[in-house]
Amino acid sequence: MIQYYAARAREYDRIYDKPERQSELQILRTFIEETFRNERVCEVACGTGYWTQYVAKTATSIWATDRTEATLEMARTRKLGAHVKFDCQDAFNLPLPPQPFTAGLAGFLWSHISKPDIQKFLSSFHSALKPGSIVVCMDNVFAEGSSTPISRTDSIGNTYQTRRLENGSKHEVMKNFPTESELLKAVEGISTDATVQCYKYYWTLTYRTSLSH
Ligand SMILES: C[S@@+](CC[C@H](N)C(=O)[O-])C[C@H]1O[C@@H](n2cnc3c(N)ncnc32)[C@H](O)[C@@H]1O
Repeated sequence: MIQYYAARAREYDRIYDKPERQSELQILRTFIEETFRNERVCEVACGTGYWTQYVAKTATSIWATDRTEATLEMARTRKLGAHVKFDCQDAFNLPLPPQPFTAGLAGFLWSHISKPDIQKFLSSFHSALKPGSIVVCMDNVFAEGSSTPISRTDSIGNTYQTRRLENGSKHEVMKNFPTESELLKAVEGISTDATVQCYKYYWTLTYRTSLSH
């Protein structure tokens, strides 16, 4: 994953140019800007900072983290302002912040997490947030004809795609497409007000972290 996203950093944002996805992306951008207005946001797996730039428009501050330096380098060139701090951090092992954040964003990471590791990820992610924080996780719905086909499924149900980068290199990448009930079940007992919105190309899972955790 790290090598793949490091190699893909320069071409990553082209995924947001697909013409058929523009109207849904606009809905998501507006949703992100409104949801994080006046919040102190912890973003995990920020990549090249595509979503960070929209959070930055309305949030009080953002700690935007990713495990890949190459994508963070590109994110920093966006110059989003003094209220945005980019930092190299593993979403599975976030340090406890001096002051917990009031909101969390995980964009397009869920699909790359092995199914049995989702709870470990959520536990680390939530540890950086105040009880009652608003959280948005979002990712892709599998869209026939637009998504890269699934090349195999492993014994625990994770699905994979074979992706080719512009330099010709081929990478097998885990890419899961959870159902609405899988998403809601994953946050059962650790959240309140959980809702899933499914579009043609994207899904969002929105909830508040439980008041006791
Ligand atoms: C599909 S990209 C999404 C980037 C960005 N959120 C976006 O939507 O444009 C996935 C990102 O997850 C990062 N990543 C993968 N595993 C991670 C981990 N354990 N901790 C933090 N970042 C991770 C990769 O480096 C990559 O930048």
